[in-house]
Amino acid sequence: MNIAVFASHGGSDLQAIIDGCKNKEIKAVVSVVISNNSASMALQRVQNEGIDGYHLSVKTEGTEELLAEKLLCVLRKYNVDMIFLAGYMRLLHPSILETYHNRIFNIHPALLPKFGGKGMYGINVHQAVIDAGEKETGVTIHRVNAEYDSGEIVAQTKVPVLENDTAEVLAERVLQREHEFLVEVISDIVDEKIQLGWSDI
Ligand code: GRF
Repeated sequence: MNIAVFASHGGSDLQAIIDGCKNKEIKAVVSVVISNNSASMALQRVQNEGIDGYHLSVKTEGTEELLAEKLLCVLRKYNVDMIFLAGYMRLLHPSILETYHNRIFNIHPALLPKFGGKGMYGINVHQAVIDAGEKETGVTIHRVNAEYDSGEIVAQTKVPVLENDTAEVLAERVLQREHEFLVEVISDIVDEKIQLGWSDI
């Protein structure tokens, strides 16, 4: 199975997926990585790993439509079976959602449907969890649709919120759990315990 990972910033989740594939916990390969940010650590990481990475954005391609066409072209070139959004800060064009229907997943650092949606990214999520007085938070992996963080939830895991947590401390604890959970859940997808769509790519 060929996985495409989309990432905008640090790419520590991307690295966890790459490592999981390398040590065969995930029986698949990261075939291509796409970032909308030329300066992202994600693109640096793939260079170090010898994986093909592309910087593609509305800026580089001109319009949303041209960007979508180029993305589809790259995804076809690498025979991509599954797309994983790991810290990708953009919505996907309807043509990509349609072509890869049910084959696109996102990871979110909270227990959706709480603490999701526009503006709920990065440290904002963890600050909101603390402000709400939650005793637990977690990680959600869900299918991707045309809105932020609202597709079908396929897996969740809980992470405790401790009494003196700052948003930064909590963010670190959640991110550590993300790295393990990604490997568990992507393995389940590859092993067909979680179904991919059957669209003819
Ligand atoms: C993670 O917290 C993930 O849940 C969210 O974006 C963050 C990506 O972190 N969607 P990194 O760039 O992989 O380190």
